[in-house]
Amino acid sequence: MRAIVYKGPFQVAVEQVSDPKIQHPNDVIVRITSSAICGSDLHMYEGRTAAQPGLIFGHENMGIVEEVGSGVTTLHKGDRVVMPFNVACGFCENCERGFTAFCLTVNPGFAGGAYGYVAMGPYPGGQAELLRVPYADFNALKLPPGTEHEEDFVLLADIFPTGYHGTELVQLSPGESIAIFGAGPVGAMAAYSALIRGAAEVYVVDRVPERLQKVKDIGATPIDFSKGDPVQQIRDMRGGDGVDKGVDAVGYQAVDPNKNTEQPSVVLESLIQIVNATGMLGIPGLYVPTDPGAPDPNSKQGKLLISFGKLFEKGLRLGTGQCDVKRYNRFLRDLIIAGKAKPSFIVSNEVLLNDAPMAYEKFDKRIEGYTKVILKP
Ligand SMILES: NC(=O)c1ccc[n+]([C@@H]2O[C@H](COP(=O)([O-])OP(=O)(O)OC[C@H]3O[C@@H](n4cnc5c(N)ncnc54)[C@H](O)[C@@H]3O)[C@@H](O)[C@H]2O)c1
Ligand SMILES: [Zn+2]
Ligand SMILES: [Zn+2]
Repeated sequence: MRAIVYKGPFQVAVEQVSDPKIQHPNDVIVRITSSAICGSDLHMYEGRTAAQPGLIFGHENMGIVEEVGSGVTTLHKGDRVVMPFNVACGFCENCERGFTAFCLTVNPGFAGGAYGYVAMGPYPGGQAELLRVPYADFNALKLPPGTEHEEDFVLLADIFPTGYHGTELVQLSPGESIAIFGAGPVGAMAAYSALIRGAAEVYVVDRVPERLQKVKDIGATPIDFSKGDPVQQIRDMRGGDGVDKGVDAVGYQAVDPNKNTEQPSVVLESLIQIVNATGMLGIPGLYVPTDPGAPDPNSKQGKLLISFGKLFEKGLRLGTGQCDVKRYNRFLRDLIIAGKAKPSFIVSNEVLLNDAPMAYEKFDKRIEGYTKVILKP
C-alpha cells in the first residue's frame, strides 16, 4: 500500500510499504477513507522530536472495516468507523477510569499510545491506504453508513474532542467567559465547544488572519496578538476585567508577541494574567520534557519560567495532558448526526495522499489558508 513516511526534518514521502496484517484476534484492518494532518504531526515534521525516518504518520483516521480478527465481537466488514488517536486497551486501571490517553497496556514503560507518533508505541499511522487497529472493539467508534458528514466525523479522531477537552478541563459552565489562545484547529474547536456549552464570551487569540476570521464566523471574538498584548486587549474590551476560564491551544511552540520569536512560556504566562482568581486553565496545547530546538537552556529541558506565585495567589487550578478521546467522541458524533454541530467549518483543504508532501509544506508554513488538511487515499 501507499503511505506517508517521515524521511527527516521537513521531508515526508509517499512510499510503497507492506500492507498491515491482523496480528492479534482483537485487531481489525481499516481501509482509510480520510486521514487528517495535525499540528502535532508538525512537531515531528520539523525535526523537533526523536521521530526516526521510516515512521508512517497519521493519528486522525477513519475508514471502512476491511478485515476482522477472530476475537472481535462488535465490528463487521463494511462498518464505517473513526478511531481515537489514542490506542488504548479498555481494561487497564487508567482506561477503566476513563483516562484512555494514559493506557498502561499499549505502550510499555509509558502511559499512553497513539498511531503514527514518536514515543507512542509500535502503531504505524493511517496517512496510508490501510490501518491496523488493535483492541478494535474498544478503539473503533461506529458511524452511520454512507459518505455523509465525512469531514465532520474525521475530526472526531482528535481535534473536536481535544478542543472539547480544553473546555472540560476548565469545567466551563453556561454564562462564563473564556479566553482561548491559538486559533488553529484545536483552538477553533475549543471555541466551538465553548459556544456549544453556552459560554457568554469567547475570546480567541492568534495572529493568522484566516484563522481569526474562522472563529469570528462562529461567534467568538478574535484577538490579534500582533496588534498588541492580548491580555491588555481582552481587559480593554471587558472594562478592565479578566475572564473566568482560559485554554492554551498553542503549546510549546508559542510565539512571543513582543519579539516575534518562540517563547514556550508566553501563553501560560498570559493565561495566569488574564484568568480571574479561582479560575481554571485548560492546557491541551502540547509541552515536552525535552526540546533541543527551544530558545534557552531551561526550556530545552522542558523547564519554563512562569509566575507560579501569581498562579498560587489567584488560586488558579489547571488541567493538562493528551485528550482522552473516548470520553467525548460518542456524544460529539451524535451532535453531528443531529445537526447540532458541524466542526468541518475548520477544514481548509482536501488533498490526495500522493500530494501530502506539498500539503505538509504549506500547512507547516500556515500559508494559503492551510488550516486543517484531510488526506484522501
Ligand atoms: N492534548 C492533546 O491531546 C492534543 C491533541 C491535538 C493537538 N494538540 C496540541 O495542541 C496544539 C495546537 O494544535 P493545532 O493543530 O491547533 O496547532 P497549530 O499549530 O495549527 O495552531 C497553533 C496556533 O497557535 C498560534 N499561536 C502561536 N503563538 C501564539 C501566541 N503567543 N498566542 C496565541 N496564539 C499563538 C499559531 O499562530 C497557530 O495558529 C499543538 O501543541 C498540538 O500539538 C494536543
Ligand atoms: Zn492530531
Ligand atoms: Zn488501557
